[in-house]
This record gives sequence, structure tokens and C-alpha cells, in this order.
Amino acid sequence: MSTLLLNRRQWLKAAGATLAATALAPRLPLQAQTPAPLPPKSPGAPGLIQLSWNENPFGPAESAQRAMAAAVPRSCRYPDAEEQALLELIAAKEGCSPNQIVMGSGSGEILDVAGFHFGYDKGEIISADPSYMQLVNAAEKAGGRAVRVPLNARYEHDLPAMAAAVGPKTSLVYMVNPNNPTGTVCAAAALKEFVKTVSARVPVFVDEAYLECTDNFAERTCAPLSVAGHNVVVARTFSKIYGMAGCRLGYAVLPEKLATSLRARMTGSLSLVTIEAALASLRDAAYVTATRAKIKAGREALVAEVKALGKEYAVPQGNFVFFKTGMPVKDFIAQMRAEGVVVGRAFPPLLDWARITIGLPHEMEVCHRAMRKVLG
Ligand SMILES: Cc1ncc(COP(=O)(O)O)c(C=O)c1O
Repeated sequence: MSTLLLNRRQWLKAAGATLAATALAPRLPLQAQTPAPLPPKSPGAPGLIQLSWNENPFGPAESAQRAMAAAVPRSCRYPDAEEQALLELIAAKEGCSPNQIVMGSGSGEILDVAGFHFGYDKGEIISADPSYMQLVNAAEKAGGRAVRVPLNARYEHDLPAMAAAVGPKTSLVYMVNPNNPTGTVCAAAALKEFVKTVSARVPVFVDEAYLECTDNFAERTCAPLSVAGHNVVVARTFSKIYGMAGCRLGYAVLPEKLATSLRARMTGSLSLVTIEAALASLRDAAYVTATRAKIKAGREALVAEVKALGKEYAVPQGNFVFFKTGMPVKDFIAQMRAEGVVVGRAFPPLLDWARITIGLPHEMEVCHRAMRKVLG
């Protein structure tokens, strides 16, 4: 008999019989009743040093941690006022109107939404190759097409080749500065010139996820171009310099009209705890300076190790180093893992290169020892 056809009395009777049957059934041993716990995700496996996701283990700032703890008891409330305060603080920092800021659950949400927006209707997205592909992948899902322009001989974005690739179907040029996985930056003046010229034809998106790790952020950022009215989107994240990857917060500075379109497509919303951490982080300039110095020290030590091992590398400015191991990266990953260190994945077409994130000093000691053993 179909459940849909049961009347109320029959249903109660049937439900009672089921309940009685359940009560009478011999109890299964606990093991069989409880679903087996999922295996830990391999890179996060306990006991292993996680240097593969470009996280920043020096964060969150203590000020942010205190702000998060203080926010917990107020988490029963929707954070509208706090979200507005964060929007205004970010706009003040960037020197623009809050209407030119879109916030997201990580900059990843903004990359996805921008990818859907610009990929729609067979739009072509120009990007470097290899680079960070989240926006391009989203564009392809929306029916768009990826135009991948190989990096130049220094593993930097090839600006002339990217400019030459712009055509009638181009809907967006996506730049990652510093690039992921190579860590290389574009020369500041050349990038700005590129962005100004190209954005007169098509929108340009500059992903500055790692830019706060570099020595001269102010000289390199393209956000002022967006504020000055160029057709430019600049994305930032709290996942990197602020060490808040688990909090999920990012934002973009962009033309007001485009901001309105992208905001309409956002599906996430921000948590009070994350917002309070961000407000505290943005006010904590000392944390940023200190963290940048720690990342730089780790990066320089890792480059020195790579050089001592006689390996080629891309000149890095982010919180990671990309270098040529001279063996298939999957073998390098496996051998480093056997030494307790999880390092970055394969980035085609550079399949004998590896990316290592800067970890805590004691983690980097283990990493350096492992590299000497595996590559020395
Ligand atoms: C270049 C780049 N952009 C954006 C992101 C997305 O970061 P999130 O979503 O944590 O802000 C990442 C993550 O690693 C990245 O490498």
C-alpha cells in the first residue's frame, strides 16, 4: 500500500507498528549503527605539516582572535550593522564609496560570481597559464571560453602577449599579482600601463590575494585605478596576510555599476564573528607589518635552500615558493609526505615543479631537512 494512500488512523497504526518493531529489534553493536568517520582529508592529516594550501599560519592577529571571542555571545543576532561598519571601513581604506565594494565569503565567492558574469554568453576570459583558475573555471561552467596565455621566460604574466590576445569576444582579462602558483609579480609601472590601456577596451580583473605579502604593496596595487574610474576590478582576501582562511572573507573594489550586477548574484552572507575579526585586523597595522616580515624571512630562507640545492625557481613575492624539483611532482609530493610534509599539487604544464607554502619556523626546519633528503 502506498504511504500516500494511508488515512490518518492507518498511518498511526503503521507508524506504531514500525516504532514497536524498532523497539523490539535487537540492538546493533554501536560500531554498526554509527557511520564510520570520514577519513581525514589527506593534506590536513594529523601529524603532517601542511604547506600546500598557501595559508598563513601566523594569523589570525591576536586582536582578531579577541574580537571573535567577544562576538560569540552576540551571535544570535544578524550582523547588519556590523556588516555596514565593515563595508565603510574597507571603503575608507580603499578611498572609495561603499557602493564600489563587494564583500564575499572569501574572495573565492567573488571570483566565482565574476566568472559566471563574464563567462555568460560565450564570453572569452584571458588569463595567464599556469595561474589561479577559480574565476576561469566558473566562466567555463557558464558557457564561457578560456584563453590561456603562457607565462614569459621569467614565469611572469606576459603582458604584451596578453594584450595581443584581446579580441572582439574577450569579456574579461584576469590577472593574478603575485601569480599563483609562481609567486611572481608584474613590474609595477608596466602592469599599471597594461591595465589602463587594456581596460579602455575590456574589463580587467586583478586578483591581489597575495599582494599584501610583497615588499611594496602601495606601489603595486591597482585598486587606485579602479577608484579613479578605470574599468578594473581588484580582489583582496582576508585569507592570506590576515591569516583568516577559515573565516571566509574577501572583497573587491570595482566600478559601481558592475558592483551592483555582481552583488545581485552573490549567494553567501558574512558571519558576525568573521566581520568582527576583519574589523579588528584592518585596525591592526602592526600585525600586518610583523606578519609580512615573518613571511618574507621564511620565503627568503626557502629560496636560499632551493638555490643551495641547485634548483631553478620563480622569483617569489607571495607566501610560497615555486621551483623546479627535477622529478615528477607527484613523486616529490609523495617523498615529502613520507618525511611528514604536505606540499603543493601539480600545476600543468610545469609538472616537475612544486609549490611550497611558508609555514611556522619550526615547520620550515622540518621542510628544509626533508627537501635536502629528497633532492640533495
Ligand atoms: C590567487 C588566489 N586568489 C583567490 C584565492 C581564494 O582565496 P579565498 O577564497 O580564501 O579568499 C586564492 C586561494 O588560494 C588564490 O590563490
